[in-house]
Amino acid sequence: MSMNAPAKREFSKIANLMRPSAIRLLLRVANQPDMISFGGGLPNPESFPLDDIRRIFDEQLAKNGKKMLQYGATEGLDSLNIALSKRLKEKEGIVSEPTNIIETTGSQEALYMVGKIFANPGEYVITEAPTYTGTISAFRGSEVKMVGVEMDHYGMNMDALRQTLKNYPNPKFIYVIPNFQNPSGITMSLERRKELLEIANENGITIVEDDPYGSLRFAGSHIPSLKSMDNDVVYLGTFSKVLSPGIRLGYVVAPRDVIDKLNITKQALDLATSTVSEYIASAYVEEGFMDKQIPKIIDLYRQKRDLMIESFENYFPKDVEFTRPNGGMFIWVTRKGANTDKMFEEAVRQKVLYVVGSAFYPDEDNHESMRLNFTYSSNEQIVEGVKRLGKLFEVTAR
Ligand SMILES: Cc1ncc(COP(=O)(O)O)c(C=O)c1O
Repeated sequence: MSMNAPAKREFSKIANLMRPSAIRLLLRVANQPDMISFGGGLPNPESFPLDDIRRIFDEQLAKNGKKMLQYGATEGLDSLNIALSKRLKEKEGIVSEPTNIIETTGSQEALYMVGKIFANPGEYVITEAPTYTGTISAFRGSEVKMVGVEMDHYGMNMDALRQTLKNYPNPKFIYVIPNFQNPSGITMSLERRKELLEIANENGITIVEDDPYGSLRFAGSHIPSLKSMDNDVVYLGTFSKVLSPGIRLGYVVAPRDVIDKLNITKQALDLATSTVSEYIASAYVEEGFMDKQIPKIIDLYRQKRDLMIESFENYFPKDVEFTRPNGGMFIWVTRKGANTDKMFEEAVRQKVLYVVGSAFYPDEDNHESMRLNFTYSSNEQIVEGVKRLGKLFEVTAR
């Protein structure tokens, strides 16, 4: 240790407030041999288009190498913003100019920035309960307070939202994941989406729509995004689940005043998104690979979801409830009276991992649920892992 190190180092209030994400901690044990992990939200590596990326990488390096290895603009690569604007219009009915888009280092960065630009420390925002644990970490990092609104099978419960707005009349925004929500797998119905927009408009509240999974639909029909119905919505997208999370590339589509604030905030965080990733993604989208890639991922994940649900039916006690997502990567499993936090240690001993439900509640304790990822494990692991969890449910006192 350096001679100059203080006897007791002091950290800021925010540094002391932040907690390691339950999922990051879990990824460490996930690498143990024989471990079956339904924990992290990892795409299946079999879905990565290695050959296409290798070819695009070589081509881009030859064609644009000097720009690709240079710093880029904070708002992102023009050609990528143009390609995304076109694609979002065709696929999502989102009509936005390329100048209404900013690239981000994954949508995780966007979540952090959104908390920062809209809310002062101590002010509150509304989220679904449960909600994505990375969002909870991002908002906590800015000392933003969260109020969770309960969900049912059709998404955020609108009566509960109205009640919450009586108690907390001035939230800085409402954050939702309408498609195949992380962690619940639930998709918000069209009626709920319309009602949410009405409530937001009546009360002058910004909506933040986080949509990493929308294009991974295996069943049922497409439901329009909130952004396509109201252009004032702040929309977060990412390449993580449809191409690769390793390229760390996300984007925000928003009105110009919001983009300007995000731009300034991003300059302080990381100057710009990786130009290497942007050149690759830009060529990937422009050359139409997305339409080849997404159906492959969907086929792979649909069959894994079906297998996991079939395994629940075979190996779980009958009083264990679970969602049946029409897309995405997660199933939410609940047993009344269970304590999945207490079960967790034994699960690690039995070499099967899940994420405890309590990690997804922004402002309350809830221990009855767990999140299971069905996309990462092999088919054999899915059956064996569910068997192990089934036994664990049988033997664990409630
Ligand atoms: C709802 C949601 N938002 C944001 C993210 C962050 O994704 P990334 O930073 O990889 O784009 C995730 C990742 O799992 C997610 O599930």
